[in-house]
Amino acid sequence: MSQGSDGQIARAVALLRAGELVAFPTETVYGLGADASNPRAVAKIFAAKGRPADHPLIVHLASAAALGSWARELPPAAEKLAAAFWPGPLTMILKRAAGVPDAVTGGQDTVGLRVPDHPLALALLGAFAGTTHGGLAAPSANRFGRISPTTAAHVRAELGAAVALVLDGGACAVGIESTIIDLSRGGAVLLRPGAIAAAALARVLGGEVEEGGVATAGQPRVSGSLAAHYAPATPLQLVPGAALIDAAIAARARGLRVAVLARRSPPGAAGDLLWHQASAEPAGYAHDLYAALRQLDASGVELILVEAVPEDPPWGAVADRLRRAAQGAVVQDET
Ligand code: TXA
Ligand code: MG
Repeated sequence: MSQGSDGQIARAVALLRAGELVAFPTETVYGLGADASNPRAVAKIFAAKGRPADHPLIVHLASAAALGSWARELPPAAEKLAAAFWPGPLTMILKRAAGVPDAVTGGQDTVGLRVPDHPLALALLGAFAGTTHGGLAAPSANRFGRISPTTAAHVRAELGAAVALVLDGGACAVGIESTIIDLSRGGAVLLRPGAIAAAALARVLGGEVEEGGVATAGQPRVSGSLAAHYAPATPLQLVPGAALIDAAIAARARGLRVAVLARRSPPGAAGDLLWHQASAEPAGYAHDLYAALRQLDASGVELILVEAVPEDPPWGAVADRLRRAAQGAVVQDET
């Protein structure tokens, strides 16, 4: 670490200890951090995001050694997954330890825990924890329901003065939020797909991972499972590849300013449509997705048409985020 970032880390730790908010990069998206053991600091997160106070937050830890301070039961599955995937884009839901504030868990008996894989995040978490096992509660650093930030500039543009300091660690490598697995109820239930696929988790566990996702009565609330999450302000529709050009031309004929997000280059018929070419492989697509959506959202178009992605497991997490961004609106191929 350079002198400059050492100074930044020291300042960030001082702010966090004083109960202020600090945004920091992780490998998935930027987080809006507060001292997880300080309910007044955690309350500032909800105020800054405009997020309902009963939505639980993920506690970020410097290493798996801190697990026992935050979870009261450590099933063998948790130890296996921590060993295999931490630091990394995996959040585990475990039974909370006594003393984890209700402000963090939304009053639930469980807590979400993760060790992020980003040098700046790990430096911050290490310095903040010191010789204790302190952690940072951090949701994605966006306004509630909006697109997660993958650069420091996104955070400043959206949260501005509400954040005391934004640590700049460049663009996030993964680009979409962590995989969430619930280990608090005996089995292993996938609550949010992410870069670590269910199959990879199942391999390490040597058993099944149940697909959970949709919150139902009695289950933990997962705000990322609301249908309308991760949405741009501009209406967005998912369109099968074969119908994409026709849909774009038809919308333009109705007088709409249209943008297209697709995995291929624009055909001649696209004319002057605003066309954003995304990566043809899922990791690259995820890396750029939120920045692309923000850019198209800010471009003044009235409709964003997104080419549907393949229905294979490697595309699962991207498909999940696109479905939410579209709030379920799919334009069917009419032929
Ligand atoms: O990649 C990520 O996970 C990013 C970075 C910053 O680490 N964080 C993130 O946080 O996406 P957030 O708050 O935007 O989404 C966390 C999700 C929410 O949907 C929340 O409801 C769920 O995790 N969650 C947190 N604690 C939970 C719990 N005890 N039970 C069930 N779901 C929980
Ligand atoms: Mg979020």
